[in-house]
This record gives sequence, structure tokens and C-alpha cells, in this order.
Amino acid sequence: MTRPDPRAEAAAVFNRVAFGYDNPAMRFPPFCADRLIVRLNPARGAKILDVAAGTGVVSMAAAQAVGNEGRVMAIDLAENMLDRLQEKIVKFGIPNIDLHVMDASVLEFRRGYFDHVVCSFGIFFLPDMAAGLQEWMRVTKPGGRVLFTVFGKQAFQPMMEMFIRRMERYGASVPDRQAPLADPESCLKLLNDAGLENSEVHAEQLGYHLKDEEQWWEVVWNSAMRGWVEKIPSDRLDSFRAEHLAEVRTLMGEQGLWLNVETLFAGGTKPSSV
Ligand SMILES: C[S@@+](CC[C@H](N)C(=O)[O-])C[C@H]1O[C@@H](n2cnc3c(N)ncnc32)[C@H](O)[C@@H]1O
Repeated sequence: MTRPDPRAEAAAVFNRVAFGYDNPAMRFPPFCADRLIVRLNPARGAKILDVAAGTGVVSMAAAQAVGNEGRVMAIDLAENMLDRLQEKIVKFGIPNIDLHVMDASVLEFRRGYFDHVVCSFGIFFLPDMAAGLQEWMRVTKPGGRVLFTVFGKQAFQPMMEMFIRRMERYGASVPDRQAPLADPESCLKLLNDAGLENSEVHAEQLGYHLKDEEQWWEVVWNSAMRGWVEKIPSDRLDSFRAEHLAEVRTLMGEQGLWLNVETLFAGGTKPSSV
């Protein structure tokens, strides 16, 4: 049996997730995006590529930072995600973001076209992250920066562990997709092996309180986790959800349910000699 193409799988899940991705329980993508662009601190007028842009949280922060004389290119494989960004562009009259459906590993741009390349919570979807990073470097100007975010090891714990154990009881498994990059050393190695200079990785302990376990389910259902949970046969999904949420409810504190969003901000500079 041929294995499904991981890119097609990711695009299909995010095309379903797109309509709920910006829901109130999923507050972390916008605030991580803002922090990423603060770290990048691009000059006004800069040209930026936002890889795996999704509904555009990074693109919008970047567009504001570079001003109307700058330009942001948002690319993603999931058309429905980019459609949400297009709605925001129209709603807020944002003049300097362009959108393209495009694979993060095969960029249709010439060498050195962008001042900087950024990617938030997208690199771990690439079947070959090192090759992807090389491609991002190719389109970056010498001296430009390539930055990405990934989740740290404690992100979404302890709920994630409960989720995985419950999935196993239902005969479904969760791919350990983020593990290769979940610690700063692995991120640093990836950056250095790619040939980036002045590589840095900063771990930030971010997070917030969800109102209750139902909001946790909003996170599950409106993120890549949806693709995993949909592996459970539909006639058993309701009982999985009920059992999992009953377990998660035991974690509730006075302020609600803590959503740990430990995030690693990683990046480096393209050498001027490349
Ligand atoms: C978790 S979302 C992150 C979206 C956005 N960067 C953010 O911070 O909210 C991951 C995104 O990666 C996209 N994606 C996954 N694999 C991709 C690939 N090979 N090329 C382009 N986009 C991809 C998905 O469609 C999805 O929109």
C-alpha cells in the first residue's frame, strides 16, 4: 500500500480546520506571531516571505512592521486557510500582503528575492525539514534572516499526554512530528547544519487559561490534532471525546485550564558569501 503524501494530508486537514482556526481558544498563534516579528524587527520597506502562513497571523504582523512601502508574501498549501487571510485583507484594507498556494519545500521565487523568511508552527510539517530550510535560505538575500517557531516539549501538557494515551486505547496513534525539534539544541543543530550564521534559539514559557475542557476540545478540533482524532471511527468519536474531556476536567483550577504554549523562537542569518 502506498503511504499518503504528508503534504496532501496536511493540506487536507488544514482545509477542514480553516473555519475554526481563529477561534478564541486558539489565541496563541497571533501572540507568537507578534513576538516573532518583534524579534525579526524588519526595516520599513522590507520584503518578507511568510511560509505556511495559514490564516495570516504572521503576515499581518509583518505587514504592519514593514509599512506600505514593504511587501509580505504569504504562502500555504491549504487554500481555505489563505481564504481566511484574504477575508482579513479585505476587511481591514491591508494593502501589502500577497497570497499564493505553494509548497514550503518548493518555492517559486528566485534566489535572494526576500529580505527575510519567517515560518510560525509550520516547519515540522515538512517531510524533510533540512531541505526545506535550505530552500528558505535560497530565496533569502545574503545577510537576511530566516526565523521559525516550534513548540517546546512542555507545550499542551499535561493534556497532550492524556490525549495520546486515550488515542492509544482507541487503537489510534499520534505521529511524533514535533519531537525532532522540540528542544533548543535540535533547533540550533538544524540551523547550523543549514549554514546559517549567528544562529539563536530562545525558549519562551507562554500560555493562558482556557475557560474549561470544552475550550481544550476547540484547540484539538481546530489544529493539526483534528487530523489525528479523525482516525478514530466516527461511531466511537463521541465516546473518545467524552472520556478524554472527563479526564481533562480533573486538571481544572480556580482560573480554568492552563494551556501551556512553550514556544521556541529559532533563527539565523544567511551568510553574505552564499
Ligand atoms: C499550525 S498552522 C500555522 C499557520 C500560521 N503560520 C500560524 O502561525 O498560525 C500550519 C500551516 O502549515 C501549512 N502547511 C503544512 N505543510 C505545508 C507545506 N508543505 N507547504 C506549505 N504549507 C504547509 C498548513 O496548511 C497550515 O496552514
